[in-house]
Amino acid sequence: MKINDRKPILFEKSDHNIWTDPYIQQQMLKKHLDLHSDEASRRQEYIVKIVNFILQHAKPKSRSLDLGCGPGLYTSHLADEMHTVTGIDFNKASIEYATHKRKDIEYILGDYIMNYPTGQYDLITMIYCDMGTHSDSDRDKLLKNIYHSLTDNGIFIFDIFSEGIINDRQEGKSWEYEPSGGFWNESEYLLLSQTFHYPRDKAFAYQYNLIVEDTIKQFIVWERYYSEKEITDLLKKIGFREISIHKNLLGKNNFTSSSEMFIVAEK
Ligand SMILES: C[S@@+](CC[C@H](N)C(=O)[O-])C[C@H]1O[C@@H](n2cnc3c(N)ncnc32)[C@H](O)[C@@H]1O
Repeated sequence: MKINDRKPILFEKSDHNIWTDPYIQQQMLKKHLDLHSDEASRRQEYIVKIVNFILQHAKPKSRSLDLGCGPGLYTSHLADEMHTVTGIDFNKASIEYATHKRKDIEYILGDYIMNYPTGQYDLITMIYCDMGTHSDSDRDKLLKNIYHSLTDNGIFIFDIFSEGIINDRQEGKSWEYEPSGGFWNESEYLLLSQTFHYPRDKAFAYQYNLIVEDTIKQFIVWERYYSEKEITDLLKKIGFREISIHKNLLGKNNFTSSSEMFIVAEK
């Protein structure tokens, strides 16, 4: 058993993933479905605001794709508005829940970086600052796929953290002991958590060592943040014609940082 407490190399991937781990993905589903919590998905009142924002920008009855759709909290609203909707996620528990709930929505259990869905869409969404969880190379591959799968004048709407996030994060270490189990494991565990900042590369890494009896699992989660100019230049380089940035859509809120920006990028 070896505890890893070194600073990860930028965008290093861990062997385990919080979204696909068999036990943790079930806990994530519970968090998604908690209407009053901002964990995993935003709370209901913000979801409604974001859906309205999306609908203001999208043309009626769009063919829509939601990347990292979770249990379908956004897809179901879009389908109610007569959009033809596809959602993709690699969390099996969430996709099973979503598929069971709505038969009129196409759900794909898959990895949108490795196996980007085929098809042409008028609207593509990716919500909860998930773009920031990917390495710059995976992000670029994904953005190119998004661009090519949009119809002419199609739009991509997503959120990301701005540089203001650094006021809400601190490097450090903490631990959590749960004698009867909890979010990370069903029985007794010890979780060692570390936060690392990469100011030059505008990223944070959250590294977790999960200790259960005599085994240890490591997880690394990345969070990349951007200046307005950086994200605009990046999207222009991919080919997007019009980019608008919306900074106060939700106002001050209880999300992990209220420094998020919503981006609308038009092909
Ligand atoms: C923070 S949750 C947000 C879910 C949803 N967008 C919402 O706001 O309710 C991120 C979701 O993205 C999914 N995800 C992350 N990386 C993915 C990938 N490479 N392929 C497919 N799904 C992914 C996770 O499984 C998770 O359901």
